[in-house]
Amino acid sequence: MEGAERFDVMIPRDTIATRVAEMGAQITRDYADRELVLVGVLKGAVMFMADLARHIDLALRMDFLGLSSYGDATQSSGVVRITQDLSHPVGGKDVLVVEDIVDTGLTLRFLIDTLESRQPRSVKVATLLHKPANTVQQVPLDYVGFTVEDRFVVGYGLDFEQRYRNLPYVGVLRPKP
Ligand code: IMP
Repeated sequence: MEGAERFDVMIPRDTIATRVAEMGAQITRDYADRELVLVGVLKGAVMFMADLARHIDLALRMDFLGLSSYGDATQSSGVVRITQDLSHPVGGKDVLVVEDIVDTGLTLRFLIDTLESRQPRSVKVATLLHKPANTVQQVPLDYVGFTVEDRFVVGYGLDFEQRYRNLPYVGVLRPKP
């Protein structure tokens, strides 16, 4: 990328595409005849959600939720607030939360508790990445793209200080020589 840091590829774009297609096929089977609403968490889940939705062969709805976590750029504090709410009620619907990465699980715990208070028919979770090394809150993950080691990753929606979301692969920042 022009004028930017260099990255090592952790998960190449083809590998992501294959896995996302598999996840979409699985979700299509699991949610047949259900009222599926994909709830994407802004902004990191945008790429994953866009690709995943195209592999789900159902008449689903898509909505987005903005969350802000207090704390520094790379560390989750667990204190989360909604910065942008859903555009439609989810009561009685089958909600599938679409996340970019689950690290400590604190953000997801907050999100699931918030959604469950709105009485949907079900709430499940699809995450592209899971970093189990830092788990603080155990949250059941129904669909996991890849389990990754404890490195700070960027690309395919994931940012470092709001940049690099547009990398077509998941990468790690290469240490400066
Ligand atoms: P958690 O609350 O610790 O599970 O953190 C979840 C959020 O932290 C994710 O939705 C990301 O926005 C951010 N995050 C955690 N790890 C990474 C990473 O390696 N790269 C980029 N963002 C991350």
